[in-house]
Amino acid sequence: MFSKLKLITGNSNRPLAEEVSRHAGIPLGDIELFKFSNDESFVKINDNVRGADVFVIQPTSYPVNDSLMDLLIIIDALKRASAQRINCVIPYYAYARSDKKDQPRVPITAKLVADLITVAGADRVVTVDLHADQIQGFFDIPVDHLYSIPTFARYFKSIMQMEDIVVVSPDSGGANRARALAKRLNCSMAIGDKRRSGNDDQSELLNIIGDVRGQTAILFDDIIDTGGSLIKVAQALQEQGARRILAACTHGVLSGKAIEYLEASPIEKLFITNTIQLAEYKRSCKKIVQLSIAEMLAIAIKKIHIGESISLLFR
Ligand code: R5P
Repeated sequence: MFSKLKLITGNSNRPLAEEVSRHAGIPLGDIELFKFSNDESFVKINDNVRGADVFVIQPTSYPVNDSLMDLLIIIDALKRASAQRINCVIPYYAYARSDKKDQPRVPITAKLVADLITVAGADRVVTVDLHADQIQGFFDIPVDHLYSIPTFARYFKSIMQMEDIVVVSPDSGGANRARALAKRLNCSMAIGDKRRSGNDDQSELLNIIGDVRGQTAILFDDIIDTGGSLIKVAQALQEQGARRILAACTHGVLSGKAIEYLEASPIEKLFITNTIQLAEYKRSCKKIVQLSIAEMLAIAIKKIHIGESISLLFR
């Protein structure tokens, strides 16, 4: 049992950390984080954390390498300040898609990042919708993997009639995730048979497996980055006669021209969570609706602190 629970945030998603702090009823710790003019990062924790159970909230989102480095030096500062346990709450885990050596001479960066976080001194990682479940195994410390599915399912049930709905995974890799949402919504599912061409961002859809004609399709994926994958599938769904096309993705990276492509796409609304803080121009896109996972994180943090199971959150 740990005596003091402390919440600390880096700079990558302060609004989410503030929301978690409100739900948990625990103030955010006092921390200074800045860059010297030579581009080196610096951190100073102004609160006493000796013997504390500290939760550091820092998704490794844009600017990815700065967010990651900030997380590492916060961990180091906490360790040297004698925190008893350092829990890294990383709602969005960047580099997760670099999870296998599927070409000659390429890195497995998701594993490298896991090693960096562990060596820096983290005792636990709390994360949301990893690109692949097995990334948990890249860590030699406990990983609490939380899911956004209950948040999306609750929301969809509250805004629409659950009739003629089909949940669509854009590719076979996301089939389990889509099946889990379809089960909660008590509806059918379909899968996009996607083939990526080359090693750039281009992807090509060949087919939709499953019946979508006349139905409201909910495209469901872990991440929307450039938007290429999702939008190609949305176009195929339109060609196959889907009546409405909605999309739900946990992590709204929305890089490059994603917003422009989304605006021009057949996707009526894109539902994302707040694992990543959105820039103002993305927030003002009329197609985007953000759902909060702050309460889920707050409950998980409190349960982890007192040593209770968190699986009840997902039943
Ligand atoms: C692929 O396996 C992922 O689940 C996403 O579909 C993909 O990485 C999203 O990237 P983008 O939006 O750039 O196509």
